[in-house]
Amino acid sequence: MNTCTPQELGLQTQFTLPKRPDWRIGVIGLGGISRAHLAAYRSMGWQVVAAAEIDLDRARRAQQQWGIHRIYDRYEDLIADPQVEVISLLTHPTLREPVVQAAAQAGKPLQTEKPLGDDLPLCERMVRMAQESGIPFAVSQNYRWHPAVFFARQIIERGLIGTPYFASIEIHGTQDVELADHDFYAVCDDFLTVQWNTHLADLLRCFVGRDARRVLARTGRMNGQNFRSDNLLISIADYGEGCSGHILHNELLRSEMQRNECRVEGDRGSLIFSVWGTELIFDSQEIPGGARRLEFDAGALPNTFCGPMGDFLASIETGREPTISARRNLATLRQVLAEHRSAQAGGVWVEIEGQER
Ligand SMILES: NC(=O)c1ccc[n+]([C@@H]2O[C@H](COP(=O)([O-])OP(=O)(O)OC[C@H]3O[C@@H](n4cnc5c(N)ncnc54)[C@H](O)[C@@H]3O)[C@@H](O)[C@H]2O)c1
Repeated sequence: MNTCTPQELGLQTQFTLPKRPDWRIGVIGLGGISRAHLAAYRSMGWQVVAAAEIDLDRARRAQQQWGIHRIYDRYEDLIADPQVEVISLLTHPTLREPVVQAAAQAGKPLQTEKPLGDDLPLCERMVRMAQESGIPFAVSQNYRWHPAVFFARQIIERGLIGTPYFASIEIHGTQDVELADHDFYAVCDDFLTVQWNTHLADLLRCFVGRDARRVLARTGRMNGQNFRSDNLLISIADYGEGCSGHILHNELLRSEMQRNECRVEGDRGSLIFSVWGTELIFDSQEIPGGARRLEFDAGALPNTFCGPMGDFLASIETGREPTISARRNLATLRQVLAEHRSAQAGGVWVEIEGQER
């Protein structure tokens, strides 16, 4: 098969990063995902000057490991800390609105982990609050910055496969076994439909460049599965005239045959890759010679969590809207909440109101 490099296609080979190297970040929540964020920020030289955590043992361990200057048990104190310029909220959605409110009052930019929230009116309220106070407010959807996705997005944006009419993501994983004892994911009611799907629905939106108008989702179980919520999801998204998407997500595997494949079809070509993969295959009518493999060095890109924060900090410097602003992310949230409702109703089409880009 023919090969090519990102350079030959004129693709961006580095994430969009801020000009200032020494941004001062305050982190709220020092749980599991904070380790990925802290490592990412450190790798870029962004300083974590303070953190807020209610579990003080956990906070002390993190402080030692990461050399965080100040630890608070109240997020209000972190937001008031004059050294903190930007807030990174890394808790579950049980804590969102009061932090947005306090950040808005303090005039400090805020990026939150996904999901933005689990209730649409609340999320719309938070977006309004941030808009009215003028603070930049974004969501960390780091999957868009996995290396294969980073290059796939650019291939699509350059029009190399034409106008997308179909995108699909298929995942077969083992989390029903690996996370069987997890204190949150194993017992929540929306593991695939909302918690996970926030990543996948966001990717589909990004691949097709449109927001879903209606969705239909079915979930399924395996006898003897560990998780409380169904660990098999099949969903269809209708993006309007001439464009559909599909997610097949199975976390029930009792084998080592894990698999992940994304496929984007356009009216001038096709694109296939794995979200976590190190290669990408595409065939474009814009480039004669048939299908080719894009060869890229995934290790040359920063950690995926640098992507959303780098974009956010750069957006603050230039005054543009962050790529994944909370306002834009409402469309992802509307889609996953509609999919959850559809699945709960046994798989009926659910219309999604209020979509705008
Ligand atoms: N991007 C990804 O790939 C990815 C992966 C895992 C989790 N996540 C997301 O990250 C978020 C957190 O997940 P996690 O696995 O780290 O959860 P976690 O339970 O391990 O950590 C959450 C932390 O927040 C702390 N906390 C709770 N209330 C607080 C408060 N009022 N003030 C300060 N700290 C408080 C908890 O004590 C805990 O340490 C979730 O929204 C989850 O969906 C994203």
